[in-house]
Amino acid sequence: MLLLHIPLLAVLLAAGDNEDAFQEEIFKIIYSSSFYNRSWVKTRRSAWLDDLQTHGWDSNSNRIIFLRPWSKGNLSKKEIKELEELFHVFCIYMPQLIQRHASQWKFTYPFEIQLTVGCELHPGGAMVDFYRFAYQGSELLHFQNNSFLPSPKGGTRAQDVCRVSNQYHSTKIIIQRLLSDTCPRFLLSVLDAWKADLQRVKPEAWLSNGPNPGPDRQMLVCHVSGFHPKPIWVKWMRGEQVQQRTQQSDTLPNADGTWYLQVFLEVEATETSGLYCRVRHSSLGGQDIILYLERHRSSRGWIIVAVMVPLVLLTALAFWLRKRWSHCEPPASLFPLE
Ligand SMILES: *[C@@H]1O[C@H](CO)[C@@H](O)[C@H](O)[C@H]1NC(C)=O
Repeated sequence: MLLLHIPLLAVLLAAGDNEDAFQEEIFKIIYSSSFYNRSWVKTRRSAWLDDLQTHGWDSNSNRIIFLRPWSKGNLSKKEIKELEELFHVFCIYMPQLIQRHASQWKFTYPFEIQLTVGCELHPGGAMVDFYRFAYQGSELLHFQNNSFLPSPKGGTRAQDVCRVSNQYHSTKIIIQRLLSDTCPRFLLSVLDAWKADLQRVKPEAWLSNGPNPGPDRQMLVCHVSGFHPKPIWVKWMRGEQVQQRTQQSDTLPNADGTWYLQVFLEVEATETSGLYCRVRHSSLGGQDIILYLERHRSSRGWIIVAVMVPLVLLTALAFWLRKRWSHCEPPASLFPLE
């Protein structure tokens, strides 16, 4: 039976690895501005690697906030300084430019501008960059081959915005350099740094009881958290037998880029003996995590014993002392009111 499981696991894990390898990796900077009126703009900036926020912006010091230990990738101090200056200037001029042209472009207050800039690495190694500018949630223009292009659905407004934007030649040169050089270089280096960081993490697992499914039944829950990459194999087992009624939750993201999963088994309360939860993951190097329900229970039992025994002894001692006390005359000074 064990021999049968090993090729199955190998296939499952290999399929998982492939899934991971076929995923594209995206780095993007999101800049969004809410224009309330002619004099009031609120701006937010952040940068993301896939679903994980990697950078923020401190508007007091005009510095990039690096949210992860690996968020700098291989950017040098000088490059970081240059980028900070660039973003700072951009964040001053961009709203001014939009305010100046708002009526010409028929932007009506209040409105929302979103700019998403970044690059994505495709499974074959191809790198694609993007620059999308949206008004009220729909795309107006993008950037390609050194110039701004109107989005088909943007109509005459998109053409107007494009015509004005294309007059800023030095801005276009800077955007082109960021998209075709800085972003791909940064994405590759930050991915390496992230993966190296994740290799150090290993999953943790623990057991608990889920909501009571009915009289004389139990819901067993095996929790696994802190793993990366996403593919994982977690089952409730007895001996070498996988329990077919094992069910699992969606794999949910943790804030640090690792994943979290719950695996359930509903059983008769009398049928729990020998059950254990088994976790296989590429980061464990073949050393599966195995958690026995009984050991879990009995360790809880021992905690109860460890707490109860001293309690009982203390109570007995208190009773004995009280009995002794009542045999003696209480000293008058202790009970002056009596
Ligand atoms: C602009 O909007 C802000 C925020 O809603 C408001 O406090 C301010 O008074 C407005 N200014 C003008 C000139 O309408």
